[in-house]
Amino acid sequence: APEEWRERFDAMIAADERIEPRDRMPDDYRRTLIRQIAQHAHSEIIGMQPEGNWITRAPSLKRKAVLIAKVQDEAGHGLYLYSAAESLGVDRAELLDLLHEGRQRYSSIFNYPTLTWADVGAIGWLVDGAAITNQVPLCRCSYGPYARAMVRICKEESFHQRQGFECLYVLARGTDAQKAMAQDAVNRWYWPSLMMFGPPDAESPHTARSMAWKIKRFTNDELRQKFVDIIVPQAEVLGLTLPDPDLRWNPERGHYDHGPIDWEEFKQVLKGNGPCNRQRLEHRRAAHEKGAWVREAARAHAAKHAARTER
Ligand code: ACO
Repeated sequence: APEEWRERFDAMIAADERIEPRDRMPDDYRRTLIRQIAQHAHSEIIGMQPEGNWITRAPSLKRKAVLIAKVQDEAGHGLYLYSAAESLGVDRAELLDLLHEGRQRYSSIFNYPTLTWADVGAIGWLVDGAAITNQVPLCRCSYGPYARAMVRICKEESFHQRQGFECLYVLARGTDAQKAMAQDAVNRWYWPSLMMFGPPDAESPHTARSMAWKIKRFTNDELRQKFVDIIVPQAEVLGLTLPDPDLRWNPERGHYDHGPIDWEEFKQVLKGNGPCNRQRLEHRRAAHEKGAWVREAARAHAAKHAARTER
């Protein structure tokens, strides 16, 4: 019967079972996953740029080694995620073309500049902290390959978050200039990190559908709230302030209230008008073109290998 597979799919989602590449799935489910996983993969590789900017200027050998490891981890996350997307029947070369043509998105957060060394700390603490808050529930995503890719990614992200926190902790206990640099970085990254979770639930076109499919386990606003509740006490430990005068504990809700987010800024960044959108995409396209010979060599090697095993 034509609807038998559909009933089976719905039953699997209801029973919290994982959907695997061999299972038949609704076209919209597949399309939603391709969009989200591709956007996620693109974010990982574009995300190498803001921090990569500080590798040559890291203040010590230890900081440099940590930062290189971290940026390499982001490249690896991109690779697992492109592989997860490919299990849905798309090709990574095609996805990269869509990114380069500006037809698929990457996270808004990576369109902001890294002005000082303290930005490396603020990105680790706030940006990777927000990423983990969003990604831990994705380990329970209904699509198996995406959920499994998230397990290792989350472990690595928590190392990134810890290194950022520690970097800021040291700066906040350094000279007055170092402390001011740490505070300035937190001031600039706080609001954009809250925007990472996406538009408010009432304006999020995909949330309800993705929650019903168990792709998303929490709404954008729920995760944003979780994140704010985590970072307020951490900021106290750091001895830094979050640049939000409306931030206060709400005993009735059992959560911190935060001030209004500038959604106009978010919309502008999504439209391509953030401070670094153009630079990020240009740099990515140039890196892709410079890597053409590597892809060509890999293809030639694979063809040679295939011919040899055929014999
Ligand atoms: N940056 C860029 N685009 C965004 C962002 C953001 N921070 N948040 C939402 N959007 C886009 C959505 O892709 C969607 O685009 P579309 O309408 O063109 O398809 C639109 O804004 C509306 O948003 P939602 O309906 O809320 O979309 P969705 O249900 O996909 O939720 C979210 C957005 C929460 C980002 C989700 O896709 C997700 O969890 N993705 C996986 C995590 C991820 O991509 N992280 C990358 C940054 S973390 C890191 O790499 C270190």
